[in-house]
Amino acid sequence: MNNPQLNEHGELQHLLSTEGLPVRIMRDILDRASTFIGTTEHKEIKKVPLLQGKSVFNVFFENSTRTRTTFEIAAKKLSADVVNLNIGSSSTSKGETLLDTVDNLCAMHADMFVVRHSTSGAAHLIARHVAPEIHVINAGDGSHAHPTQALLDMYTIRHYKQNFHNLRVAIVGDILHSRVARSQIHALTTLGVPEVRVVAPKTLLPSHVEKLGVRVYHDMEQGLKDVDVVMMLRLQNERMQGALLPSAQEYFKYYGLTQERLALAKSDVIVMHPGPMNRGVEIDSSVADGTHSVILPQVTFGIAVRMAVMSTLAGTK
Ligand code: CP
Repeated sequence: MNNPQLNEHGELQHLLSTEGLPVRIMRDILDRASTFIGTTEHKEIKKVPLLQGKSVFNVFFENSTRTRTTFEIAAKKLSADVVNLNIGSSSTSKGETLLDTVDNLCAMHADMFVVRHSTSGAAHLIARHVAPEIHVINAGDGSHAHPTQALLDMYTIRHYKQNFHNLRVAIVGDILHSRVARSQIHALTTLGVPEVRVVAPKTLLPSHVEKLGVRVYHDMEQGLKDVDVVMMLRLQNERMQGALLPSAQEYFKYYGLTQERLALAKSDVIVMHPGPMNRGVEIDSSVADGTHSVILPQVTFGIAVRMAVMSTLAGTK
């Protein structure tokens, strides 16, 4: 089947999803990100010229703190010109279609779009529409995919655990509405993690989720037993239709990550969260700020991973 992310030479043309992303490309991005870590850790290394003369347009139709900002930092470190479109004051609020907005930005000589949209498939639509020399990166579309978040998560796991081959990973929380969870599951299974667990109440799991190659747990204590990595998720209240949970307090009682529950995992477990984090809802502050937490390093690694994605795309002819 035609892969919309690859060109006819099998090179990365757009980054839309970790589903169907070849393992060689995932590994290349992680390896390339390692080469950029110096530029993100040492303030004296300001820039590399890999995107000099290119224009990157950040087009975010949904709020973002981490993704939008780290894409901007990453693009600037690659020497690109960065344009942040303020959607609140753009002409989409006057009824212009998404593709008309994109056409106008192309007329301003955009080379790369970084797109976040509440509708699943928005980035795919733009990727199909633009000229072949323009690249599109999905920065989160509806409840579908968030591939750069999953790739920075894979980078974080590899950084702390060295490889993927002996790991038990638990993804905990609102899997049903989470684009992050979907992208994490595809990335983890592609990179060879032998045991991926999802831990959630039945109301927050997609039907037939086990077909994605995961083990399903409804009991938090059982789901956390002997895991190497815990990946927490936020309750996506903005995407819930109707009451899927009795209350946030009740949710924390059964699925909140506390020190006591974390003690069931391996002694060197790492705790991850893509953010934004709701303390006291899915995670206790003592865990979020505790010694096993790698939540803030995830954010920093995101700069190098996004540099790797953008420079890979810029190298595709
Ligand atoms: N993880 C993530 O996508 O965070 P933002 O919504 O702040 O970009």
